[in-house]
Amino acid sequence: MMRFAFVTALFGAASSAFAAEQPVNAASAMAIARGNACIGCHAIDRKLVGPSFQQIADKYKGDGQALAKLAAKMKTGGAGVWGSITMPSHPGMSDADVRTVVAWVLAGAPPK
Ligand code: HEC
Repeated sequence: MMRFAFVTALFGAASSAFAAEQPVNAASAMAIARGNACIGCHAIDRKLVGPSFQQIADKYKGDGQALAKLAAKMKTGGAGVWGSITMPSHPGMSDADVRTVVAWVLAGAPPK
């Protein structure tokens, strides 16, 4: 029990220290993006209905709050940051899926 708590504490400290550099899993992120129709509105390198994933990465470069902020916005949807078109809400996506896809977008949506 003690040992588990200790490891959890260590892991928590490590993940907040590296919050700006989330590990990116491109293969799962792309599967999530396809599975949730993100790519119907977003392309990696050009604007469609929404901004390209690379434009989003540029905009939030160096913003340590971006992952949390954009993960929340994924769930609620919204407009006004890039224009007047609204991104629909995605309430059914798991937190893990949202974080995986947003971390990948913030890394510039690398192919792998
Ligand atoms: C129906 C079209 C549509 C779909 C589907 C969609 N988006 Fe968006 N997305 C948009 C629009 C439009 C914006 C710009 C919203 C704004 O200006 O605030 C946006 C903005 C974003 C942003 C930046 C938000 C900000 O505040 O800067 C991220 C990240 C994002 N989308 C990721 C995703 C992901 C991941 C998915 C799939 C789970 C997805 N989007 C699905 C249209 C869409």
